[in-house]
Amino acid sequence: MVRLAVFGQPVAHSLSPRIHRLFGEQLGIDVEYSAIESGVDELPDRLAAFRGSGGTGANLTVPLKQTGLKLCTRIDRPARQAHAVNTLRLADDGWHGYNTDGAGLLLDFDRLGIDPAGRRILIVGAGGAVAGILGPLLAREPACVHLINRTADRAERLAEKFSHLGTIDGAGFESDPGSDFDLLIQSTSAGHADALPPLERDWLADSAVAYDLNYGPAQATFSRWCGAHGLPVHDGLGMLVGQAALAFEIWTSRRPEMAPVLAALAGR
Ligand code: ATR
Repeated sequence: MVRLAVFGQPVAHSLSPRIHRLFGEQLGIDVEYSAIESGVDELPDRLAAFRGSGGTGANLTVPLKQTGLKLCTRIDRPARQAHAVNTLRLADDGWHGYNTDGAGLLLDFDRLGIDPAGRRILIVGAGGAVAGILGPLLAREPACVHLINRTADRAERLAEKFSHLGTIDGAGFESDPGSDFDLLIQSTSAGHADALPPLERDWLADSAVAYDLNYGPAQATFSRWCGAHGLPVHDGLGMLVGQAALAFEIWTSRRPEMAPVLAALAGR
């Protein structure tokens, strides 16, 4: 039996236990996956107790992704780039940390037929979610990535941090980002308060598509804006399942199929 858990605060609403149970059933692997409530200060103790009870793999979610870095003996390149870990695997010398968020998004892009190579990408928001995807996204060699954020300084600093990996810049909402963007990625948490960042349809090419890193009710306001402007939009549930599939592979060396799990969640 593989003992796994997600740690976070709040964590009760997490879909991860269900997703990983479905992966286990799909591949005939006996998985026990629980949700463990933990704040930043309690994480070292909670993780040690989990390890003591036979836990060998974990996911970290808000607000633990940065704290988790300090508890790892090794971290992979995406985690280093994002300065955050979402997946831990127990090795002989302690926890090894990974960040599968960006690669999970790209798995979902592949599923949806979205190819970032050579495309002009506009990203709204410059928080932790964006930091998690930029390294893997820039590795696909888009023509450019332009970040716009309510707090301009945050977008500028994040763009600067990733500028060695590709053509990327950042600015505030008041600036004109330009036009002909092929892909709009919505990453802000504005939708949690039914708010919408200031967006203009004119920034986007006629054939553009939109992707929201959020899913569920937090995605509804943006989804309505896209609908009103004739812009096809995908929500971030596929990214959630994608990052989970890659974590499952790290723990078990088996990569589950995303499609049956997405189908099961659609009827959730
Ligand atoms: P996450 O890990 O989800 O990215 P975060 O690091 O707290 O969370 O970042 C939240 C993002 O949503 C930020 O880009 C934030 O903008 P600021 O950097 O200016 O705070 C953005 N955001 C949150 N509420 C917003 C709103 N009402 N309108 C526009 N942007 C908003």
